[in-house]
Amino acid sequence: MSADDRGPRRLPLSHRRAFVQRHTRLRDVEGVPGVRLHLADAVEPVWHAMEETLGVDGAPIPFWAFAWAGGLALARWLEEHPGEVDGRRVLDVATGSGLVAIVAAKAGATEVAAVDIDPFAEAAVALNTRANRVRVSYATRDVLDEPPPAVDVILAADTWYEGPLAERILPWLRTAAAAGTRVLVGDPGRKYLPDPVDAGLIELARYPVRATTTLEDRPIVEGRIFAVS
Ligand SMILES: C[S@@+](CC[C@H](N)C(=O)[O-])C[C@H]1O[C@@H](n2cnc3c(N)ncnc32)[C@H](O)[C@@H]1O
Repeated sequence: MSADDRGPRRLPLSHRRAFVQRHTRLRDVEGVPGVRLHLADAVEPVWHAMEETLGVDGAPIPFWAFAWAGGLALARWLEEHPGEVDGRRVLDVATGSGLVAIVAAKAGATEVAAVDIDPFAEAAVALNTRANRVRVSYATRDVLDEPPPAVDVILAADTWYEGPLAERILPWLRTAAAAGTRVLVGDPGRKYLPDPVDAGLIELARYPVRATTTLEDRPIVEGRIFAVS
């Protein structure tokens, strides 16, 4: 039985929130001045605690407990280029901790929505938006099953780490871009990042970012920012 069948959706938000608080510490995010997130020190203890709490084997990786390299790079791009989101309606897809959504809100986006498929992300986003005094609406939903929403900007950070997601997200982002939405992605060279030229990804910047988890194989990775065409 999978974690989704048995677990996270059945746990009330207050329990998920308490879990996030118990297994993380509110701290500064290196390279993203002015933003604080509830982050864990190591993946394994949180992961095991989730499996215990949910009573399942094979809970999803607690992505929400870390600021991933793609998100750190995209956050930096937005801090340096607030005009990308200032005065605009923004969706952060696969938000995890909410880092990119929070930076968009701080940069002046009029409305910021965040989505993720992991119900624990809802708790992390709630705590992290409160810590940063910004407003972000959140939904636990697989928006890739739906047409892209009518927003001005879609942000997607660190989504090319697994094949099935990689296969679905590029066409979805390209559909949004074709409809006139500005689509920005951050990626640190994940395994399933497509060839940028073939995929219509226009490179805007590269940033060295310090990995925040031992799941990365290098301490410093190069985060690339692309606009989707
Ligand atoms: C590597 S994390 C990146 C999180 C965040 N964007 C960052 O850069 O820190 C990938 C996130 O994608 C989410 N995810 C996976 N499939 C998804 C889908 N179909 N729709 C929305 N989110 C998804 C995962 O739950 C996870 O939070």
